[in-house]
Amino acid sequence: MNKKALILGIETSCDETAAAILEESAESVPNLLSNIVSSQEEIHKKFGGVVPELAARSHIDKIDLIVNRALKKSGRKLKDIDAIAVTGGPGLIVCLSVGLNFAKALAMTLKKPLIVVNHLEGHALSPKLVTNLSYPYLLLLISGGHSQYLAVKNLGKYKRLGTTIDDALGEAFDKTAKLLGIKFPGGPFIEKFAAQGNKDRFDLPKPIINKGGCNLSFAGLKTAVLTISKSIKNNQDKHDLAASFQKTIEEILVKKTKIAFDQFKKISQTKNNFFVIAGGVAANNKIRGKLEKVSFEENFIPIFPPLNLCGDNAAMIAMVGLEKFKLKQFSKLDTPANPRWQLDKSAVFLKGAGVKL
Ligand code: KG4
Ligand code: ZN
Repeated sequence: MNKKALILGIETSCDETAAAILEESAESVPNLLSNIVSSQEEIHKKFGGVVPELAARSHIDKIDLIVNRALKKSGRKLKDIDAIAVTGGPGLIVCLSVGLNFAKALAMTLKKPLIVVNHLEGHALSPKLVTNLSYPYLLLLISGGHSQYLAVKNLGKYKRLGTTIDDALGEAFDKTAKLLGIKFPGGPFIEKFAAQGNKDRFDLPKPIINKGGCNLSFAGLKTAVLTISKSIKNNQDKHDLAASFQKTIEEILVKKTKIAFDQFKKISQTKNNFFVIAGGVAANNKIRGKLEKVSFEENFIPIFPPLNLCGDNAAMIAMVGLEKFKLKQFSKLDTPANPRWQLDKSAVFLKGAGVKL
């Protein structure tokens, strides 16, 4: 191998300012030299959710510092970078613009290629930072803004098999946490909270469980949690509700995953049926356990990114950047941010009243 490609990754699509340096390697996985993530939790917690304007301001304040920290930790110099990979969407436009403009300026100054990356493709490829994973594979992407089953046919080639028709799973976790009085961002704490509860106490709905293929729906479940939360009297009730919610989600995902397995097998000829579970909610240990079990039962090989790479980070953006760099898939310097960038461009919009499943 000649000079090993060195990629700077930048991520600012929501409330994490992140930068990473990734180096190509002759080994099966590339060398992650640094991966810096600065969370804005403190800024948004008093509002109970992400405030776009404040998020964008914070990205502007920190982006220089975070990129410099990533460089310093990697032991490499700016002049050694071969390409700049940056999230171009989906996400909050004011936030995306900060990273994108920073990356464009850097690319122009250094005279190095710009690679605009889909944030969801970052999650999709995140296990490649630690595992030798070949295409095609089935992906369940469960994050704060998205919940989808996708067949990943190749780099940039996706077929959506199912999606949420209303809320994203991470959103359902966050809203449930809020109703239970768990401080923002509460989603990650539901599982811990649920550990002291009785999972069979409340019988919660599983919307579209017996129809709609592997499409998902969480709005009815959220409404049920809201209704029950109003009659909650003590802490034990809260733990029981959290446990019942967690159990219901696990059951929904196991059932829908089996359907996705069947659909994937019909369209993909591969001897290794890899099943990647990525995105923030993939950090949930009980969900990991249940999906691991159903995978082995159904002859799929489950692959989870390590916990520190489940949430938003720039290492995953650099990973996509490296694959695109090798194929010389560079972006124009006037590429706009794309807040609604879909992985499967042919997939129909499936949200709102009147959706036919
Ligand atoms: O992928 P991510 O960091 O950001 C987006 O691209 O949305 O996902 C964030 C989401 C949040 O909704 C958060 O509550 C959820 O992932 N999350 C979890 C856990 N850790 C993060 N949900 C359930 N259990 C967890 N352990
Ligand atoms: Zn994400």
